[in-house]
Amino acid sequence: MLQPEIKRPRVLSGMRPTGKLHLGNLVGALQNWIKLQDRYDSYHFVADWHMLTTEYANTSDLQSNIQEMVMDWLAVGLDPQKATLFVQSRLPEHAELHLLFSMVTPLGWLERVPTYKEQLENLQGRDLHTYGFLGYPVLQAADILMYKAGYVPVGEDQVPHVELTREIARRFNQFYGEIFPEPQTLLTPSPRLRGTDGRKMSKSYGNAIYLSDPPEVVDKKVRGMMTDPARKRRYDPGDPEKCPVFDHHKVFSPPDVVEQVDRGCRTAEMGCVECKQLMAHYLNEYLAPIQERRKVYEREPQKVWNILAEGTEKARCVARATMAEVRTATKLA
Ligand code: TRP
Ligand code: SF4
Repeated sequence: MLQPEIKRPRVLSGMRPTGKLHLGNLVGALQNWIKLQDRYDSYHFVADWHMLTTEYANTSDLQSNIQEMVMDWLAVGLDPQKATLFVQSRLPEHAELHLLFSMVTPLGWLERVPTYKEQLENLQGRDLHTYGFLGYPVLQAADILMYKAGYVPVGEDQVPHVELTREIARRFNQFYGEIFPEPQTLLTPSPRLRGTDGRKMSKSYGNAIYLSDPPEVVDKKVRGMMTDPARKRRYDPGDPEKCPVFDHHKVFSPPDVVEQVDRGCRTAEMGCVECKQLMAHYLNEYLAPIQERRKVYEREPQKVWNILAEGTEKARCVARATMAEVRTATKLA
């Protein structure tokens, strides 16, 4: 007998093309996307227009950054048979919906978004007093609502953007009829993984370990990692929770090793040199199959672009249908 087709709920999430991804990107987003792709109708895209809201003055590496990032997506196991992978700017529908949303979004809503003021103050070396940067969350709302996604897997910092998306959906629906469902945030449970200097792992801090770092590079970065400053001498006991090396053990080492390190650090039975060697070993073991899969795409980058082209056409079908509905509802057609 024919099974009735079960429609899986849709998730959608985007990532700005920063180039090669680091371990923070892995535990903060990718691992979650991979879990979701079996149970949800997954859409994941390269948010290249979002990148331009802050990097508009420097776009020369944009295409290679897209390629490097998507290689990492595929290397860690995002599966184009399960998830639709695409590039935002290949779908002008996103820009059109963004424009229409900009008509109904009050300025006050945007000025109140916490990431807005924060980034205005913190991102050095660029003028962010632009129309595009203020509108960042409106573009994000267009991305999400275009696909009528039920769930948006994001980290904590993005929660206000999803909340604003819901408000824009509500306001649009009030004017033009029930078109957009309100999406829910799927908060990504992400363990803490500080960078080699103890600050948040970030490309711009130069403290990141990359998924594509070869074993020698991993060894060297781990050797140079900050540890608990209380362990000045070999026989000083430490607190592993204060140490970014231990963050990594908890993610990449087997439970008995985590246990052994925890005890060894507190009692000073284990030295930091040995502890780091152990961690680098398990991290390299974790990265080896990822780097093996990545090689397939490094040898033939065209494969990446073909996957993105195919995903883009799938996304385009949905985007076209939504925009047809929107144009009718707004009496633009
Ligand atoms: N703003 C997100 C970030 O910086 C990226 C993004 C753009 C996004 N559009 C999206 C995430 C839509 C989820 C849904 O991480
Ligand atoms: Fe960090 Fe390990 Fe040294 Fe403890 S023993 S401070 S966890 S490197």
